[in-house]
Amino acid sequence: QHPLPEPPSYMEYQGILFPAINIKQESLEAVKMFEIRDDDVVIVTYPKSGTNWMYEVVHKILTGKKENITPVGLEFWPPGKQPSYIQLRETPSPRLMYTHLQHQLAPPGLAAPVNKLSHNILQVKVIVVLRNPKDICVSFYHYCQKHAYLKNPESWEHHNRDFLDGKMVFGGDYFDQVLGWWQMRNDPHFLFVKYEDMKKDFRSSVKTIAAFLEKELTDEHLNLILNSCSLESMRKALTESGTSRNTIVRKGMVGDWKNHFSAEESARFDQKYRERMAGTGLEFDFE
Ligand code: A3P
Repeated sequence: QHPLPEPPSYMEYQGILFPAINIKQESLEAVKMFEIRDDDVVIVTYPKSGTNWMYEVVHKILTGKKENITPVGLEFWPPGKQPSYIQLRETPSPRLMYTHLQHQLAPPGLAAPVNKLSHNILQVKVIVVLRNPKDICVSFYHYCQKHAYLKNPESWEHHNRDFLDGKMVFGGDYFDQVLGWWQMRNDPHFLFVKYEDMKKDFRSSVKTIAAFLEKELTDEHLNLILNSCSLESMRKALTESGTSRNTIVRKGMVGDWKNHFSAEESARFDQKYRERMAGTGLEFDFE
């Protein structure tokens, strides 16, 4: 273990916290003007919803390749490297990228796509992965503890409160992030996939995603995806990668929140959940 070079510092942009080390105001402003191409595929998630899982699945649907890849996050500017928005500008089509941004910070070509359907023109495909917030809260807690560039939660109790108060890095308030994108649910260029459904029936989830991407899968191709994107295959591949990405795969289950939430925390969470989700038509499995 290396000692931390400096304490993690966050910057705030339009009310949302970002780690100063790999997201800058300049990159967030550039993202707002980022040009989306008609053949782009963009994965949108609140952090810890299964971003990397979906990315591997989509990458493998598009390419048929077995190797794992390092996902490109639109808003990121890794230290010593090019910001993603420049790297992506130079990437030939078709491009695949992900973002945790709330819809109002995302490129306009994504959050408010022009309806070209009537002209039968190809258009960007956006896959939004959704996950129940209790498991996300737990997943985020463990993730923050493992990364030196993120603030180590003072305690589980603090983290749980901060989550409900919308003070998380990258995505800000869970309900704002999710419900902002949920407004696009009737847009045919958006596909909403729940983590819990992928866990329940991975095979049919992959088929649905492939159909949305207009890719026909042979049985062989489908099986390659199912095998190489399983929890254990991804755990093995990421561990062997020798990078910090080995922290991505943890338990990979639905309902781990029960091992962390007190009855009181759960009740408080449920109340906020009911208030914010009422009338939205969005529901989750919590176990
Ligand atoms: P847990 O911490 O609850 O285990 P993200 O990629 O958005 O950071 O999400 C990380 C979460 O997705 C982690 O949740 C991780 O275990 C889970 N995950 C990663 N790969 C997975 C896979 N192949 N199958 C199921 N869950 C997976």
